[in-house]
Order: sequence, then C-alpha cells, then structure tokens
Amino acid sequence: MSQSENNNNTGTTPGTAETGEPHGAAARRGPFRSGERVQLTDERGRMNTITLTPGTAYHTHKGFLNHDLLIGQVEGSVVENNVEQQYQALRPLLSDFVLSMPRGAAVVYPKDAGQIITMGDIYPGARVVEAGVGSGALSISLLRAVGDSGYLHSFERREEFADIARGNVETIFGGPHPAWKISLGDFQDQVVAQEAPGSIDRVVLDMLAPWECLDAVATVLAPGGVWVNYVATVTQLSRTAEAIRADGRFTEPDAWESMVRGWHLEGLAVRPDHRMVAHTGFLMVTRRLADGVTGLNLKKKAKAEFSDEDLSHWTPEAVGERAVSDRKLRRAARDAASTVQTKRTKSKNENAATETPGGPGDQ
Ligand SMILES: C[S@@+](CC[C@H](N)C(=O)[O-])C[C@H]1O[C@@H](n2cnc3c(N)ncnc32)[C@H](O)[C@@H]1O
Repeated sequence: MSQSENNNNTGTTPGTAETGEPHGAAARRGPFRSGERVQLTDERGRMNTITLTPGTAYHTHKGFLNHDLLIGQVEGSVVENNVEQQYQALRPLLSDFVLSMPRGAAVVYPKDAGQIITMGDIYPGARVVEAGVGSGALSISLLRAVGDSGYLHSFERREEFADIARGNVETIFGGPHPAWKISLGDFQDQVVAQEAPGSIDRVVLDMLAPWECLDAVATVLAPGGVWVNYVATVTQLSRTAEAIRADGRFTEPDAWESMVRGWHLEGLAVRPDHRMVAHTGFLMVTRRLADGVTGLNLKKKAKAEFSDEDLSHWTPEAVGERAVSDRKLRRAARDAASTVQTKRTKSKNENAATETPGGPGDQ
C-alpha cells in the first residue's frame, strides 16, 4: 500500500458522501493535508496560521519552514525550520477561526456562542432562524449544533455581510452546508414571508433593534419555542424586555451576561490574567406561550417607557457600533471568497493529481 493510500497524507479531505460522517467532520482529523489551515506556535508562544501549499515555505526573520514538511504529518507534531526553530502544529479550533476570519461586523464571541447554544437549547435536528448574519460566526456554531439533519435559515439585510458569512461558513465546513439557507432582507419582513406560522423551534437575534421583530418572532415560533436575543447595550436590553412583556405572548424574559477571565499558570504564580475581554454583549431568553393564554407575570408587567423620540436615538453609532465602510466590506467579502476558492482549487488539483497515474498520490 502506498503512503498516500495508507494515511491520505497529501490527498483531499474525504467528504460526507465517502465517510458517512456529519458535514465537515472528516476535515477535522487525520494527517495534515494540502490546502488546510494549520496553526503554528513558536517557542515563545506566538501563533500564526498558514494554509498548506506544496512547494512553498513559511518565512520569518528566523528562517523558513517548508510546507511540505507539514503535509502528511500527524496533528500535534513539532517540526523544525531550516535553522532549528521549533513549531508546534495544530488545526485551528472553531474559536481560533472565528476570531481570525474575514469580518465586517462584530462577531459573537466564542464564550457567548456557547451560552447561546446551551441556554437557547439548540439541538441536532432543530429548525432555527437567525438574524443578522454579520460575518457568520454564530451561524457556524448554530450549524454545528443543528447538524446535517437540522435547519438554519439566516437573514441578513446587507448583501456584503451575507457574502462574507458565506465565505466563512464554506471555509470551515469545506463547502456549502446542507442545513443552511441564507436570505437577504429584513428579518421581520422575510421570515414571515418564507416560514410557515408556528414552524420554527428556535429564534436567535443579534441585531440593533430586536424589538422590531417581535411580531414576526411570535408568528413563526412554535409554542414552547425559545427566542434568544444578543444585544450590546443595556438600553437595547431594556427596550427588548419591555416590548416582550408588553406583548404578552412570551414568558418573562431572563437576561444575563457572561464574563470569562483567563488565568496565568506558572509555578507558584497562579493568578487571574491582568487583562480580559470585559464586555461583549447581554443575552436574553424568552419562550413562546401557547396561543390564547395570558402570561403569569401580569403583576410585573410595566408599561414600556419609550417614546417615539427615544426610539429614533437607536442608531448603530449611538450604541457604539463602528461604522464599516463599503470599501472595507467589499475587501472582506473578497478575502472570504478567495479563501474558499483557494481551498477548492487546491482540492481540485490534488484530486486530479491523485487520479493521474504517476501523480503525487501514487508516490
Ligand atoms: C453584530 S452583526 C451580527 C454578527 C453575527 N451574529 C456574527 O456572529 O458574525 C449584526 C448584523 O445584523 C444585521 N441586521 C440588523 N438588523 C437587521 C434586520 N432587521 N434584519 C436582518 N439583518 C439585520 C446587520 O446588517 C449586521 O450584519
């Protein structure tokens, strides 16, 4: 048996059809393959991610490392460059990928994505709708949670963001995901036009004004269905909670934030890190009541104290969202598309080489 038949060490990533595994799973294991992204950590703990390309090298001011040395290696190997500098090589985790992928808008941080999946009770096979898509960070976690047999319909009002998200999703799953559909337009208009009333198990919103979507959410969400909101500011949190209470078709909302503080671990110097990401966003969860019932928390039900004038103040700038130029968005979309295209071309070339007698696959 040739080496490549034995460990698929230069071949393409086996797909779902060949392995019967969930989408993207086969790409997460086995020896490193051409076209894959690999995270290198040097002796000082500095990390860099490279895309394995036969015949090329990773250069630093301390020499170079041939990619061919890594292709076919077992994940977790330590390799040396031409001047004996060592590098530890691992596949980037989802949390590494979302923080380094092309982006146009702020992404949902991994700590919050974990909370959304668990507290939103996103399960394999669930029918989920999501907006906005932004750069697709949360879409990736949601797709992993619903799995190939689930359904995720993501809505995004800006086409450039949708393009960035598509590129990122296809990069991490190695192609289009069978459970994913993305639609352009405002969630509140599109979801009711495209999804049947009461047909959705879970709704996840990460956007400026979730209260504008209340009626649409109440229409598509099944009784008992969970609605998760992720907002950046206390003012958005309060406005959304008051709207949900006043509407009466949902349970009393629960809200919280999560903070993750890293720790320094060195000999006896074991203590919290000096720096942390102190704020990302607030989470709120509520559930759809059955039609025709009245929620139990009537005595707490307060009249919303937001006037039309108040509402006009909720602009992206007012809540601290950085304006992103169209130029930057187009560049990020091009980066996302070219990352996935490079991966596809490499895969295609590798396939062709493996199928040609005497090609690299036979060596
Ligand atoms: C913070 S970003 C979402 C980030 C995304 N969850 C991620 O993890 O990458 C907010 C997005 O919501 C979109 N958006 C805001 N209101 C919307 C609406 N009513 N319908 C659809 N998209 C909306 C914006 O264009 C923006 O892309």
